[in-house]
Amino acid sequence: MKLIEQMTLEEKIGLLHGDGFFQTKGVKRLGIPPLKMSDGPMGVRHDFPKASWIAKGLSSDYVTYFPSNTALAATWNPELAYIFGQDLGAETRGRGKDVILAPGINIIRHPFCGRNFEYMSEDPFLITKMAPPIVRGIQENDVAACVKHFALNNQETNRLEVNVEVDDQALEEIYLPGFKACVDEGNAYTFMGAYNKFRGDYACESTFLLQDILRGRWGYDGIVISDWGACHSTDQAMEAGLDIEMSVTDDFDSYYYADSLYQKVMDGIIDEALVDEKVERILHLMERIHMLEGPRKQGKYNSYEHQTNTLTTAEESIVLLENKASFLPLNPEDYQRIVVIGDNANRQHSLGGGSAEIKALYEKTPLAGIHHHLGGNHQITYVQGYSCQPDVTQDQLSNLRMTALRMASQNDLVIFVGGLNHDFDTEGKDRQSYQLPFGQDRLIQELHAVNPNLLVVNMSGSAVDLTIAKTYSKALIHTWYNGMEGGTALANVIFGKVNPSGKLPFTMAKALNDYPSERLGEFPGDETVHYHEGVFVGYRYFDYEQIEPLYAFGHGLNYSQFALADIEKTENEETFTFTMTLKNTSTVDGKEVIQAYVEDEEPKGKRPIRELKGFKKVFVAAKSEESVRITIDKKDIAHLSKKLKFHFGFSSRDIKVTI
Ligand code: BGC
Repeated sequence: MKLIEQMTLEEKIGLLHGDGFFQTKGVKRLGIPPLKMSDGPMGVRHDFPKASWIAKGLSSDYVTYFPSNTALAATWNPELAYIFGQDLGAETRGRGKDVILAPGINIIRHPFCGRNFEYMSEDPFLITKMAPPIVRGIQENDVAACVKHFALNNQETNRLEVNVEVDDQALEEIYLPGFKACVDEGNAYTFMGAYNKFRGDYACESTFLLQDILRGRWGYDGIVISDWGACHSTDQAMEAGLDIEMSVTDDFDSYYYADSLYQKVMDGIIDEALVDEKVERILHLMERIHMLEGPRKQGKYNSYEHQTNTLTTAEESIVLLENKASFLPLNPEDYQRIVVIGDNANRQHSLGGGSAEIKALYEKTPLAGIHHHLGGNHQITYVQGYSCQPDVTQDQLSNLRMTALRMASQNDLVIFVGGLNHDFDTEGKDRQSYQLPFGQDRLIQELHAVNPNLLVVNMSGSAVDLTIAKTYSKALIHTWYNGMEGGTALANVIFGKVNPSGKLPFTMAKALNDYPSERLGEFPGDETVHYHEGVFVGYRYFDYEQIEPLYAFGHGLNYSQFALADIEKTENEETFTFTMTLKNTSTVDGKEVIQAYVEDEEPKGKRPIRELKGFKKVFVAAKSEESVRITIDKKDIAHLSKKLKFHFGFSSRDIKVTI
């Protein structure tokens, strides 16, 4: 007899709702285990008791702390995304979980969204190339990825209720492609339904999103799990296509998919066949990840390999924004006495940000990374320079500043490491200001005045105003919440052990009002938020309106010099293929990302000037060249006219060749 035929209605329903904050019920007598889930995108979160939000406090749930999804996206390296997925999946399985609530792939629409650091990019194409390999890598480990948050969850303000209004074109071209790619190319086993509403319906009750698009058009055969507390009804959610209801309260029987569902089936209001459909899907998931029948992979966590892989990703994610007169890489012999200033130099970030928090086995701060790199022959001093504490007095602030200035004037080199932290880049709220907080701009200017040998490192998960930092520093680096080896990676870049190759996955504007979601659209809206900017998200708007960004989408310098030559185009029915030569004319080995932007010369209606439709990260040894092939899928540009121009360059604003 089939498993489902042996199950009582009550047992079936136990599979459809949380019976613990991170698990369903299972059916012991039939050998169906509970489905165990865990956050999140930066590693496997620590364990909680079944019905309490106070961590168990185990010594066994310290894990590998991975670079944030934004950092991963900044590598523009799908191979690293795949390795990231493999390692995250192995840790998930290693910790005895079945579903990892990752990756987060919502579009970075506005720089203030508190969860931007958990997401990848303002550009859907970059997401379609970086997210599916994560999913595939995760799921090779007999665990499921949970692609989140489906869909239109682009802000934290009023996230549980806000209603998103966006036009069809933007929906199709900007907000959905990443999710579709996770179905088509990632074969994702689970999706998470978002908190917010879309066109009046909660995402978890939206027949349009779950039925018409996800299962209908995309042919998705996995399960949909609600975000925690995102289910608001029994009938409507059941009908719309939500499979599992998870929530944040411990009265598990009172969930919509628990007693109430049982009663409605008993009363004939909901057809038991609908319950069966979901149970079948869940059993299918359990089969896919070998929960019902072995052998099942055992996974592993905190392996040396995982740690070194986080280092590689962190190294490739760091973006060199500015490097005046080739100030970087620094030769340690030129600087005997170094002062490191700034709260982020000495702060660990892993255990912050909300559900993406990580109980890291260890985390190397920038300061630790610099110490470890330079060893004992340098005098390295750390001073905080400013404070993040709300209750700090003016006197204390002034003392911090004066000490920093004094130290800066007495040292050969100043490395300032500032930016945001998880009080800003966090789940549950959005940022309020585009400026660097805690008076950092003023401090940077003053530091420059006393010692112009100033390197500024900004650490944040979203764009911040770096105008002052750019003006007053000799070099400017952008880094991320970059995993347990983030500090090592940073030191390796600063001192030239690693040639940086990260590229911005979002635009850094000169002013907040340059962003389309700020100027045209609403953010954060009221009960409803209108995405008036339509498809003109990020660089699409800056290019169209000819607004000069501070740093363009796709920007990132390195220590080499690259040139593109010999571009040739061929085409067949499905693709355009471009071959070209990438030359490294410098004496430093390096990696460059060749970016392909497509322009429609005869657009129907108002269209973005050019859009990313291909890219490749290529290593070229010093004084040599590589031939490179970039393919553009015709289905990715099917909505454009036949009159196309192809631009190739090293950022969206640094186009080298057009054909
Ligand atoms: C978040 C999800 C997370 C879930 C479980 C929710 O508040 O939005 O991303 O996976 O909690 O912790």
